[in-house]
Amino acid sequence: MKKLTLLGAAVLLFASACQKEKPLTTLPVIGNQETETPSLGERRCASYEVLQEQISHNPSLARRMEEIERFTQDFIDNKGNQRLLADGTIEIPVVVNVLYKTTAQNISQTQIQSQIDRLNLDFKALNTDYNNTPALFQSLRSGSMGITFVLSSVVRKSTTKTSWTTNDAMKKTSQGGIDPTTPTTKLNLWVCNLSGGILGYAQFPGGSSTTDGVVIDDNAFGTTGTVSAPYNLGRTATHEVGHWLNLRHIWGDATCGSDLVNDTPNHNTANYGCPTYPHLSTCTGTPVEMTMNYMDYTDDACMYMFTAGQKARAAAVFITGGPRNTFAQL
Ligand code: ARG
Ligand code: ZN
Ligand code: CA
Repeated sequence: MKKLTLLGAAVLLFASACQKEKPLTTLPVIGNQETETPSLGERRCASYEVLQEQISHNPSLARRMEEIERFTQDFIDNKGNQRLLADGTIEIPVVVNVLYKTTAQNISQTQIQSQIDRLNLDFKALNTDYNNTPALFQSLRSGSMGITFVLSSVVRKSTTKTSWTTNDAMKKTSQGGIDPTTPTTKLNLWVCNLSGGILGYAQFPGGSSTTDGVVIDDNAFGTTGTVSAPYNLGRTATHEVGHWLNLRHIWGDATCGSDLVNDTPNHNTANYGCPTYPHLSTCTGTPVEMTMNYMDYTDDACMYMFTAGQKARAAAVFITGGPRNTFAQL
């Protein structure tokens, strides 16, 4: 009697546990090979028989395989990773928000496209100056970062404001700026007159989506129109999008600080202009500084590469569980 009650409870528990599970489609039955006796000398593969034997001792294996099957079919159907292209690269739609007081500040479509083109060249390592990399650093280069930027839309707004600061007002309609367009799936760029000689700034992964994106001064955006040397090759955006992808300044924003990337050398501090190679660091080991890295502060013409370590760090933002995984999803 006691035994029966226990058994009954066990059955009830089992039944209720099963009801919580989604209904499972059964594993496909492939023929009935186990009943077929192979002819002499015929080769056969025992995998499916071994699987069935394992399942008979371990029913949870069948459920685990159902999960794997669902995951596999979702991948094949391109659900959940629509923007991850077949070659593993990711396509990022870009919204350009233009705030202008003067007509010159209302930059042309050509200037906007020149910035998108520059981003694509630099992030695919198709920039011609990539080949200027000194031999010492050539094996450390990223190759293509695997990111394609596609201009999605342009939002223009006339303003009475002469210049903007780093307080994010340009990102808020309520403060005379422009709210971002779907910032969890689109990279928003704001082009405006920044005060204080600031060329641009980015929001790192992890911040509020309402202020997510990159701000670039109108005289440092793109490669034509209102751009002014030595920031006239669109590299301010390359640098800032690097931050948006979680890359730090190569000097780690401290004397001999770390950028959390182990294939970039330690830099004493930021470099400006166009340093003569080799520029030696004063940090431990006096390594040659990688002044041509996009995450330094050198002139546009003197920065032209990311490293493989920077590529790995940037790629981490898009994978499942990553802070920008929404960009990789449907
Ligand atoms: N955040 C940096 C600044 O405002 C950008 C430096 C970009 N460097 C460049 N060569 N474009 O100073
Ligand atoms: Zn920076
Ligand atoms: Ca480093």
